Amino acid sequence: MDDLYSLVMESVKYISSKTTLTPKIGMILGSGLGDLVKNIMNQEIIPYEEIPNFPKSTVVGHEGCLITGRLQGAEVLVMQGRFHFFEGYSMKEVAYPIYVMKQLGIETLIITNACGGINTSFKPGDLMIINDFINLMPGNPLIGLNDERFGPRFPDMTEPYNLRLITLAKSVAEKLQVPYQEGVYAGFMGPYYETAAEIRMIGKHGADAVGMSTVPETIAANYLGMNVLGISCITNMATGIQKEKHSHERVVETANKASEQLCVWLERIVQEI
Ligand code: HPA
Repeated sequence: MDDLYSLVMESVKYISSKTTLTPKIGMILGSGLGDLVKNIMNQEIIPYEEIPNFPKSTVVGHEGCLITGRLQGAEVLVMQGRFHFFEGYSMKEVAYPIYVMKQLGIETLIITNACGGINTSFKPGDLMIINDFINLMPGNPLIGLNDERFGPRFPDMTEPYNLRLITLAKSVAEKLQVPYQEGVYAGFMGPYYETAAEIRMIGKHGADAVGMSTVPETIAANYLGMNVLGISCITNMATGIQKEKHSHERVVETANKASEQLCVWLERIVQEI
């Protein structure tokens, strides 16, 4: 097996050859939350399949490309579409782009996702600042031999979502009058929507929202020494809380509607980072 470091550096070399920008802010746009892309100026679009060693995206509603450009003047590197564990990728593959981002010079990672609300004070369409996570997936990207060039064997996870960024997100939201919630995101492996019993259990254990992504990327980013901001779009209430059955189309539709407000919020956040 090729070592991860050389694979990552090969991806980095290719991406660097495609852009003159040197962004310090990375973003991952979740299902239905791609609106932001249209406001990125001087776009350079790099399809994932062109990048050496990158995994390939398969999920409906996800377009697989990296985009560099300027958002409100700030240089950004945006992942449009992510890799999910439930698609069959290994945890290392799910987190691979984060390793690449780090080596490209990204210091701040903004992660967005669509998820189900467990906290009954939430409603579909709400935006939630993630203040912590619970990993319910069967593994994480750091399993295996550690390469100290990336990060420490036993990384700290006291502040998986950076407090300074959380404070900034709140103050920007207040200035712009963007309503927000705050809570703990539980990462479930999927791809089925959880059972009602699973939701009751994780709700009792402190989860406010549940989704099938974000946690592996957050773990990798912290390990790599990046500061992470996580914002979830509550697209539905979790199983047993909402009466209707789930549908991916409805999830994407609700995310699309909330996307506009999320864009306004994120654009101002990147300006102030
Ligand atoms: N559960 C898991 N993932 C999700 C949900 C949900 O209810 N909604 C959107 N993504």
